[in-house]
Amino acid sequence: MRTTIIIFGVLYLWIAFRLSHNEAIEFKFTNVICQSYNESWFVIHKCRLKAVNRTVNTMNVNSTVLHPANHIGIQVQMLKKANGYKPWLFNFHLDVCRFVKTQYNPFAKMVFNLFKEFTNFNHSCPYMGPQIIDGFYLRWTFLPHTIPSGDYLLSLIWFFDKRPQFITKIYFIYMEDL
Ligand SMILES: *[C@@H]1O[C@H](CO)[C@@H](O)[C@H](O)[C@H]1NC(C)=O
Ligand SMILES: *[C@@H]1O[C@H](CO)[C@@H](O)[C@H](O)[C@H]1NC(C)=O
Ligand SMILES: *[C@@H]1O[C@H](CO)[C@@H](O)[C@H](O)[C@H]1NC(C)=O
Ligand SMILES: *[C@@H]1O[C@H](CO)[C@@H](O)[C@H](O)[C@H]1NC(C)=O
Repeated sequence: MRTTIIIFGVLYLWIAFRLSHNEAIEFKFTNVICQSYNESWFVIHKCRLKAVNRTVNTMNVNSTVLHPANHIGIQVQMLKKANGYKPWLFNFHLDVCRFVKTQYNPFAKMVFNLFKEFTNFNHSCPYMGPQIIDGFYLRWTFLPHTIPSGDYLLSLIWFFDKRPQFITKIYFIYMEDL
């Protein structure tokens, strides 16, 4: 019991310290690449970053699903830079239609919470028509805990009906400099 209180006390101080030093954490996009493999189903009109200021780059995507997509999957892989990008921590398949109903995957849920307010993705399957991400920027306060400082790549390969349709490669930096 005592130990628990001390641990929580220390955690609390640590969080308070981090909150008062948040300008020392850099968490931002550095590049984004989108590519369609099948332009008769998924068209990308725009996919780019916009520099807002020194600490914030926003991601902006405008794309269209031309026919209803009822079965959507993503191969989600996280990579971290160390002599090129190496697999780091996550590599799994996400069933998107199941996820938007049940949020069954905690990592996907964390990522979704980061960006859902900037998109029109929050609905159940099928997906059809414009798919928009507008002004999405990263906020380290949404992370459950810190991650090692470095350059990361979140690679998403999107499948409709089990066939790859497009990829998104999202590069970001997380740097803690206290
Ligand atoms: C590409 O999209 C078309 C139109 O929706 C679809 O019929 C076809 O199966 C897709 N091709 C592949 C390889 O997924
Ligand atoms: C950068 O822009 C973001 C989003 O508009 C804003 O919240 C933040 O205060 C800005 N930071 C600086 C250093 O201007
Ligand atoms: C997305 O791109 C299409 C095609 O260029 C355009 O008609 C539409 O207005 C764009 N939507 C947004 C929200 O920018
Ligand atoms: C989508 O939005 C609705 C209403 O804002 C909310 O109740 C629901 O939990 C959201 N779903 C997801 C997957 O975030």
